[in-house]
Amino acid sequence: MKQYFIITYGCQMNIHESEKVAGILTSLGYTEAKDQNDADVIVFNTCCIRKNAEDRADGNIGALKKLKKKKKDLIIAIGGCMTQQKDYAEYLHNKFPFVDIIFGTHNLENFKDLLLKKLSQKKSVIDIWEKEGPIVEGTPKTRTSYPNAWVNIMYGCNNFCTYCIVPYVRGRERSRKLVDIVNECKGLVADGYKEITLLGQNVNSYGKDLGVDFADLINEISKIEGKFRLRFMTNHPKDLSEKLVKALAESDKTCRSIHLPIQSGSTQILKAMNRRYTRDDYFDKVELVRKYMPDMAITTDIMVGFPNETEQDFLYTMDVVNRVGFAGAFTFVYSPREGTPAAKMEGQIPEEVSKERIMKLIDLQNSINKKQSQLYLNKTIEILCEGYDDKKDMYLGRDTYGRMAYFKGDNNYIGKFVNIKITKTGGISLVGQLVD
Ligand code: SAH
Ligand code: SF4
Ligand code: F3S
Repeated sequence: MKQYFIITYGCQMNIHESEKVAGILTSLGYTEAKDQNDADVIVFNTCCIRKNAEDRADGNIGALKKLKKKKKDLIIAIGGCMTQQKDYAEYLHNKFPFVDIIFGTHNLENFKDLLLKKLSQKKSVIDIWEKEGPIVEGTPKTRTSYPNAWVNIMYGCNNFCTYCIVPYVRGRERSRKLVDIVNECKGLVADGYKEITLLGQNVNSYGKDLGVDFADLINEISKIEGKFRLRFMTNHPKDLSEKLVKALAESDKTCRSIHLPIQSGSTQILKAMNRRYTRDDYFDKVELVRKYMPDMAITTDIMVGFPNETEQDFLYTMDVVNRVGFAGAFTFVYSPREGTPAAKMEGQIPEEVSKERIMKLIDLQNSINKKQSQLYLNKTIEILCEGYDDKKDMYLGRDTYGRMAYFKGDNNYIGKFVNIKITKTGGISLVGQLVD
């Protein structure tokens, strides 16, 4: 039996895309290898959102040269966002001549043809489409995140935030048909999935090209019978509408958690980022969400060290973090990406300054997490058990607010909703005991 091994970098979108590559390989009779050294096909699904994502992939691809020497029939493929950058396929081919297949984000669904082509020829197969094609439905998927299932609702991005590479490597916004998404969700619930996470770079602009909107989609999916949780990401504050917030509040399937990336708390920096909202607009959106769902947990993405970010701009960011009380924040140091407008801006911030800022930001967010966690002590919460953590030797799951909790249990709990009483709170995660 032939085996595959997939290494994925980047966002949930990429994790899901790897499930499609795995599905294609499964349909060809491959099974998943437990160890990279046993694989007949190794696929790197890459990310280029920040330089460190690229560096990690580079190092790991380079390390395979030895294995390839020992194992002549091994097929190594690189796909994902990194390969889709301008002139990158050629650069990668020169740097790693032992790589057999290089493909992009727009032709991932064709992986079967690319693999079969490679198996019939000696030469490497390099195939990158400059532009996106029509949406392909029906690609097989080998899902890896039970009880959660990822579901694409749209592809690409039209926003062109000045720091971001995504619009260049994922193409323009395209929405899947509402009926296709709803049917996929129905199938997943029927198959026993307990959580569905809808994916798009900006889910709030879903359906603009089809004459429907994201609220319509939430309403339709919420009608599916059975107990399951509905999550979605990512939201762009400029497009978050009252209609959507109402739909979320009325649905008994949506979780009380929303990811609403702010990026910066300074209006001036937001303008330079082309985010198209001000700091006050962001506060208004937070208020809108809390008007309908006062307990809603709001998480965010924040970047420090964007070109020309002053100490005052940074303090504005700290102030927003303090005032909103985020339930969690992913924090990043701005990383210049070739081909984006921000990379050419004057006033790039020295790394030491950015590092100092991010440390302060992380400290602040940690203290907020800690305070919020303490409120959980002795409370009983319902979590969906997702799996087992071997380092902690405990099972884990999240509540509707997205807060992670650990407990002692067994494998039968995976995929079940369980009630646990919180007995210990640390940083962001909680520890509890099963209650009946
Ligand atoms: N579509 C999503 C974000 C996708 S990228 C949205 O608009 O919210 C995930 C996060 O990576 C972004 O929210 C941003 O905080 C960060 N990011 C994007 N480009 C970056 C860059 N050049 N340097 C550092 N962080 C970046
Ligand atoms: Fe990037 Fe902005 Fe699009 Fe998000 S909305 S993917 S940050 S360009
Ligand atoms: Fe995702 Fe990275 Fe591409 S964050 S969209 S895999 S650049």
